[in-house]
Amino acid sequence: MENRRCFLKKSAIMAAGTIFPVLPSCIPLNTIEAKVPLKSNKIKNAAVLWYSQTGNTQKCGKVLAKTLEKKGIKVIYGDLRDIDKSIISNVDLIVIGSPVFYYDTPEFVKDFIESLPELNGIPVAAYVTFGGPEGNQYNAACSILEGLVQKKGVPVGLESFMSISSYSLSFKENDINITTKQNTILPDQNTYKKVREYAEFIKSQIEKGSSSVFKRTLTLREFSTYFEPEWWTKLAVDNHYIIEQKCVGCGTCVEKCPTNSIDLDSFSVNTKTCILCFGCINNCQYQAMNMESNNKKLISFHEYMKKNNLKFVLPNELKD
Ligand SMILES: Cc1cc2nc3c(=O)[nH]c(=O)nc-3n(C[C@H](O)[C@H](O)[C@H](O)COP(=O)(O)O)c2cc1C
Ligand code: SF4
Ligand code: SF4
Repeated sequence: MENRRCFLKKSAIMAAGTIFPVLPSCIPLNTIEAKVPLKSNKIKNAAVLWYSQTGNTQKCGKVLAKTLEKKGIKVIYGDLRDIDKSIISNVDLIVIGSPVFYYDTPEFVKDFIESLPELNGIPVAAYVTFGGPEGNQYNAACSILEGLVQKKGVPVGLESFMSISSYSLSFKENDINITTKQNTILPDQNTYKKVREYAEFIKSQIEKGSSSVFKRTLTLREFSTYFEPEWWTKLAVDNHYIIEQKCVGCGTCVEKCPTNSIDLDSFSVNTKTCILCFGCINNCQYQAMNMESNNKKLISFHEYMKKNNLKFVLPNELKD
């Protein structure tokens, strides 16, 4: 996968001058399709795994898992970082969910997929949650499937679910327009309905013995991923450190950081290795993680929700 991206990156940069005017018309990049036959058209066990920073992907993943459970399937589900990878070879379906970060699936989710054992025909499906409106969501979900297909999984589904955006750079303290930025709280009951339908679709695909074909296309947003937008965005963020007086040492930020960039002993953040995922600020309940942009302090996603009296909509499956 790395080689393909490197190749594309070089080609894209070289071709930038000529193709830029026609990018929005979607140039096909590659086709994601089964390379091996489907292992079986029966599903007894499934794994539904996700990476979720602020809960949207997790809620959708739980609904998906519980819908499959209702159909008599034994489902192992949870955060992909907590999973014992040895179980993967023994399941009859793998579903992986991720938020869209910087128009793509985060690198550490791709790395996780790359670290999986060979899947030998196990049906695989992907979903992403995104804050949109247009953020290359389809291609981001393709990234998940592409990785799974390279591991010899057989693609049976791909979906994206619009959600409230957790992109912290939009949440600045004392920003008087804060409530106008997002007035719909997603995922909502309609989203969960779509997730249940997606679970049913995946199951029926496998039972029919069908696989699906997906085509990644070169959109303007896809093109921009070749220039690593997180590194450019980093130029807009400064004073990223822990406020010693507020920090209670709970360790949540360290646990959430995918790049081990946080040092609690010195209350510092290694901004060179930080990939600006906002996992630290978004999950610190004590407002101890300092990040600023244009001399304005950023606030966490949860603080943003609280300040604006916004409440998450829970699916029936999770309401007890
Ligand atoms: C660092 C970062 C980058 C993001 N980039 C995008 C993006 O490129 N396109 C998009 O549609 N949403 C983007 N979002 C919004 C998230 O994809 C969305 O809020 C998602 O549902 C979060 O999932 P989670 O709650 O499971 O972490 C971004 C959010 C963060 C924190
Ligand atoms: S999450 Fe917040 S309070 Fe907890 S260790 Fe990190 S900075 Fe300190
Ligand atoms: S330090 Fe950087 S990489 Fe680590 S959680 Fe915070 S924003 Fe993400």
